[in-house]
Amino acid sequence: MVRKYFAVASIVLLLAAMAVAVDSYNQEWRQWQRAFLTELKRREKGTLSLWDRLEIERTIDLERVKVVTEPGRSVETCMACHTNVGVPGFEQDPLRDLLALHQNVTVVQEMPFDQIGCVACHGGDGLALTSERAHENMLSRYAEIFEEALAKLRSPKQMVRQKGIETIRWLTGDDFGFSFSAPPEAREEAIRRIETWWALHRDTFLAAGYGERESPFKTPNPQRQALLERPEVSPIGETLEFVGSNTCVACHTTPRPGGTSYIPPSNKEHVERWFRDELKTSTNPEIYLYNHPWLAEVLANQFIDDPQRRKELLSLVDEARRTGRWPEPQQVQELLDLMRSLDVTCEACHGPGGEYARMMMKGLAFEFEGRSEEAAQLIAEAAKRARENARRSVSDPRIWRIIEQLLSR
Ligand code: HEC
Ligand code: HEC
Ligand code: HEC
Ligand code: HEC
Repeated sequence: MVRKYFAVASIVLLLAAMAVAVDSYNQEWRQWQRAFLTELKRREKGTLSLWDRLEIERTIDLERVKVVTEPGRSVETCMACHTNVGVPGFEQDPLRDLLALHQNVTVVQEMPFDQIGCVACHGGDGLALTSERAHENMLSRYAEIFEEALAKLRSPKQMVRQKGIETIRWLTGDDFGFSFSAPPEAREEAIRRIETWWALHRDTFLAAGYGERESPFKTPNPQRQALLERPEVSPIGETLEFVGSNTCVACHTTPRPGGTSYIPPSNKEHVERWFRDELKTSTNPEIYLYNHPWLAEVLANQFIDDPQRRKELLSLVDEARRTGRWPEPQQVQELLDLMRSLDVTCEACHGPGGEYARMMMKGLAFEFEGRSEEAAQLIAEAAKRARENARRSVSDPRIWRIIEQLLSR
């Protein structure tokens, strides 16, 4: 009798163990690593023996691809699936080559994936092992998430409405006066306020800084903090673009439509001081090029299309920065020409204006339409960005070395 139970129990246990093994074999991240490693072996050997397949199975590993962004605090497993760094010829996510995908993202070249991870730029759940969970809250999905949440506000179910407004509060820091238990007319009124806000901010959602809010339940990601402190990249690590000082000065010296100036007198003095010929990048391109911490990188990314040439230019600049010996002008001719024609003097301190100057423009357009409250909000956000960038820049001694050199000429 006892022996019979024992036999049944053994079989059950064996089946359970097999089920666990099959389940583990089929985990999504294992499938992607297996596909990647199998393709590598196939390229190397043609056809695979059983031994090769066992070898592959042994190599599949979470530890191998785990990124520790800060010891003891923050770990990411995105690369459990996005495992290909530097192997060409894969067409499909997550196996496409991460280096190729990010060749335009300068920061990645300074902080390689195994230090910075992915979440600092893309967001998402760094510990998830299914793609659905990993991607749920990625920054690139914030607009989608916002719209899904907005739709929920009209649900007949109170619980769903509550979830909707919680998401919107998380994304924007504001509930716009929406209460999920208020009477329908009051809810509809608040929804219209949210829709107006959304129409205004849709395009500049990330630029305005709203999507950056971390969940209160998470510890802040230190790499993300490091990114936010860089004036030359957007919150998702995209290289920003210069608009040129003439664009800044076109607004910052012209009277407003109503007759007052865009810039109060204190601003005027500031702009005139920095728009003196001898301080312009167009007059002294070399001093800026070889002493500025990121100007060359932004220019090259924005305007030099050939990746090979871009690399060449940046390595010449890098060498000049390190050794103090400048290359022949014709070796970096494109960059010098760009600085002469574009003149990025203001942006050397205030950071590339591609985003905040556009917000300032959009704000003024709203002001013309009489939507002054929205205009004020957008302009304030843009101004904050331009000011914060400048403050960061002038706390960098390298910027002052440039000014000293220019003034002592
Ligand atoms: C379990 C496997 C898996 C994990 C873990 C995973 N991904 Fe993915 N990823 C995929 C797959 C599969 C695709 C392509 C299909 C899709 O979009 O879902 C993809 C696509 C992407 C894309 C391009 C598509 C888009 O929506 O922009 C990005 C970016 C991305 N992943 C980032 C991440 C980040 C960041 C993490 C970590 C937080 C992560 N992934 C973790 C499997 C994974
Ligand atoms: C410094 C910021 C940064 C980091 C770190 C970063 N990415 Fe990206 N990633 C970007 C940007 C910006 C793009 C868009 C690049 C472009 O369009 O040239 C991008 C593009 C992608 C794409 C292609 C998306 C598409 O729509 O085709 C995938 C996939 C991706 N990243 C996955 C990852 C994974 C996985 C990691 C971590 C190993 C990672 N990224 C780390 C900024 C970053
Ligand atoms: C379309 C017009 C326009 C353009 C182009 C523009 N700005 Fe502005 N900017 C404004 C307005 C309007 C304000 C808000 C001024 C105010 O009311 O104090 C502002 C504010 C600022 C502020 C903050 C001022 C303060 O007193 O807080 C800075 C700094 C700034 N801009 C820098 C720049 C730089 C640098 C550029 C070029 C990259 C630029 N702006 C391009 C219109 C513009
Ligand atoms: C050497 C660095 C530097 C340069 C170059 C520079 N700025 Fe500034 N700018 C600053 C700093 C720093 C502030 C103060 C930011 C703060 O503390 O809010 C500032 C403030 C401003 C303000 C707000 C005015 C004020 O008095 O507070 C405006 C507008 C502005 N800058 C526009 C420009 C424009 C347009 C140019 C190009 C002609 C320019 N800046 C060039 C560093 C610079």
